[in-house]
Amino acid sequence: MSQVLLQVISQKLPKMPPKVRSLLYALEQPQKYSIAEVAALVADCGNLEGIVLDMLNSGFFRTRRKARSAQDAFLLIGFSAARSVVLGVVLKGLFPKEELVQNFDRDFFLRHCIGTALASEMLAERMGADSRLNRYRLSTYGFAHDIGTLAMDYCAPITLSRIYAYAKRESVPVLQAERAVLGDLTHSSIGDHVCRLWQLPGDITNVVAYHHAPRKAAEDEQAVAILYVGDIISWNYYERLLGNHDLRYAMDPTVLSSLGLTKADAQQVEDDLPQKVDEAMRFLTTDAIDFTLMV
Ligand SMILES: [Fe+2]
Ligand SMILES: [Fe+2]
Repeated sequence: MSQVLLQVISQKLPKMPPKVRSLLYALEQPQKYSIAEVAALVADCGNLEGIVLDMLNSGFFRTRRKARSAQDAFLLIGFSAARSVVLGVVLKGLFPKEELVQNFDRDFFLRHCIGTALASEMLAERMGADSRLNRYRLSTYGFAHDIGTLAMDYCAPITLSRIYAYAKRESVPVLQAERAVLGDLTHSSIGDHVCRLWQLPGDITNVVAYHHAPRKAAEDEQAVAILYVGDIISWNYYERLLGNHDLRYAMDPTVLSSLGLTKADAQQVEDDLPQKVDEAMRFLTTDAIDFTLMV
């Protein structure tokens, strides 16, 4: 099963347009490019600039004023933050909507991804984390962390449907259902495969590959550990959305304590999360970049 599924994903995964590839390369090489050059690459990617500005100006990021162009956005919030927003929009657009998959609710799953970003941000604030782990970066990690599930939704919808049907029927966590259906693959290993095919940045690849096994991460350890905890909190929220009030995900307490956090901190974040997600859903645009404009 596992090799066949990886082959299917390799074949069916949308191709990264060359202009987007050039942009992603430039975003990872800030010393080689001026802000004007990177902004010009954004402006050359179809409707990407408009979607980035809509996202940035939506109110979700609480900027002090509205950005008027990609270059203005880089100057307003800084290179690293703007990089995160651009990456988030690009990743969201790489999976155009296909037919609906039975047993898998995309809107609830989007809430899980936003919930993971927001829970991670609340955790980072509580622990006084490095200021680089801000809302911009954690939002991109939240959108990206389950890219393996999004890839299955796009490339192998029947397999994804079987996983979610199994989880529902047996009342077990999705990770356990993946083991039953996929054998030695998980959405993390599939996501790692996708990141390598698309040559995504190393920090995103680490979050995708290790957010369920944070002790295995050799780099970006703090970000991976925060996403691990944020993801579990958001999973518990997601299961409640699905009506599974008794299903709770286990959390390794040593990862929590390695972040200087307690169970009470995690519980407080979980209690505050539903309202934060509801607020965020009012801000965020559902428009996606149209890569067909880029040929
Ligand atoms: Fe995950
Ligand atoms: Fe997740």
